[in-house]
Amino acid sequence: MLVHSSTLSNKEIRDQVVSLIAAGFSTTSGAMAWAVYGLLTTPGAWRRAAAEVHAVIGDRAPTGADLSRLTYLNGVVHEALRLFPPAAIWARSVVEEFEFAGKRIGGGSFLLFSPYVTHRLPEVWPDPLLFRPERWDPDRVDYRKPGPHEFLPFGGGPHRCIGANMATTHLTMMLARLVAHTELRLESTKIRPVSPTILRPRHGLLVKILELRNEVGAKTVHTEAQQD
Ligand code: HEM
Repeated sequence: MLVHSSTLSNKEIRDQVVSLIAAGFSTTSGAMAWAVYGLLTTPGAWRRAAAEVHAVIGDRAPTGADLSRLTYLNGVVHEALRLFPPAAIWARSVVEEFEFAGKRIGGGSFLLFSPYVTHRLPEVWPDPLLFRPERWDPDRVDYRKPGPHEFLPFGGGPHRCIGANMATTHLTMMLARLVAHTELRLESTKIRPVSPTILRPRHGLLVKILELRNEVGAKTVHTEAQQD
């Protein structure tokens, strides 16, 4: 007997959940670690981000309208995705033969490309290895909007990530809350990236909480480190 159903089977629901976790959460958490790493290893970056959040959001809860005004934090998210794209290597099956940089790429080939490499090309990115959120500020005279083939943490073409806006929104808002309410210190700056599937710090990112502030900016936690 043929049964038509408009509901998802248990297996389909399970597959959706697995896709959401693999494609959505592990990528975003990897990017979050690198954004925190960039903020904590770039002199003055944490304070600058906190000052921006204070000026734009103050003590109220953040809203979607704040996103476009958090210019520096937006730069932090983009720099993290540039230097440490969670999907560092990606693949395509070549449907039709084409030529690239004088080389013939045959139809049927399996093609690997790496946003990690593209995002560090000195001919595209000045001072490519520096974590410089300012480079994403459209009001700066040296601003240059990268082409879609130059900045591709979310892939490109018809299969470009459907969660790109959700991920950048999550990252910006999580960072806004974090910088507004904490002072952190990295316990070790010897962080090695590994990429079994998602590019992330090999042993995670161990930080010491130096200070916790509540909604009205009052300090609620001091650690010994801060009193030194
Ligand atoms: C920082 C976070 C994320 C990164 C770096 C990322 C990266 C990517 C990349 C590189 C692709 C492949 C694009 C291509 O083949 O050209 C992709 C596809 C995809 N992503 Fe994301 N992603 C992120 C977050 C998310 C989130 C939050 C969701 C869902 C809520 C999501 C859902 C998907 C789905 C469903 C696809 C497959 C699209 C298709 O094949 O048509 N991703 N992502």
